[in-house]
Amino acid sequence: MLRLGVNIDHVATLRQARGGREPDPVWAAAAAELAGASGITIHLREDRRHIQDRDLRVLRETVRTRLNLELALDPGIVALAAQVQPDQATFVPERREELTTEGGLDAVANADRLAEAIAQCKAAGIEVALFIDPELAQVDAAVKLKADAVEFHTGRYADAQGKHAVERELKALIEASRAAVAAGLELHAGHGLNYQNVGPIAAIPHMEELNIGHAIVSRAVFVGIGQAVREMLEAMQAAVR
Ligand code: PXP
Repeated sequence: MLRLGVNIDHVATLRQARGGREPDPVWAAAAAELAGASGITIHLREDRRHIQDRDLRVLRETVRTRLNLELALDPGIVALAAQVQPDQATFVPERREELTTEGGLDAVANADRLAEAIAQCKAAGIEVALFIDPELAQVDAAVKLKADAVEFHTGRYADAQGKHAVERELKALIEASRAAVAAGLELHAGHGLNYQNVGPIAAIPHMEELNIGHAIVSRAVFVGIGQAVREMLEAMQAAVR
């Protein structure tokens, strides 16, 4: 069954705007799980812009589904991940600015450093995913690195303007997904997905996990997290029916 991982980073962004304790991403995680989320995703950035080390530690204790930690190839954060042991670690590009649409992790160019970090995570019993662009060379690198999963970056699809551009990006995602599944990798996708564009991605054969944050947190401001999660689950389920 297709899983929804709710990324709660931007609940922490709101908290950090005042540097206090509210709103607590730990509460957001519990509300998302109660509404049917299959997992909670957080990105502990090197600059600690939103999620803090305390959030990772507390969520490790409280999350009842799956905790997916997005992390850069930073030795300190990899060591922290190995210690705290989220269920899954998803490697993302270093110094990725949230406000820009950048590509996925270059698993080809970073193969040596990734091999070391992946080994460290696996030794700690953590499943490993690589957040990559939908390109065959990147899929091959993920296979060689013995990642458990790939998360395809859907940013280019989400940003595409016009029917042809959207179809072109969707085709790239479908083809890369086919290659990943054939190679035995678990299939995930995320970035820029929302209530309008999630359907075709949810419908990609063998898709197992979508990680969605900004759209859900944005809607939650108006309807609450539970309702925002349920509506996203409905949009996903309508596409796979
Ligand atoms: N997947 C990964 C690897 C991410 O880094 C992020 C956050 O940027 C997301 C999914 C969620 O993206 P969004 O907030 O656009 O839904």
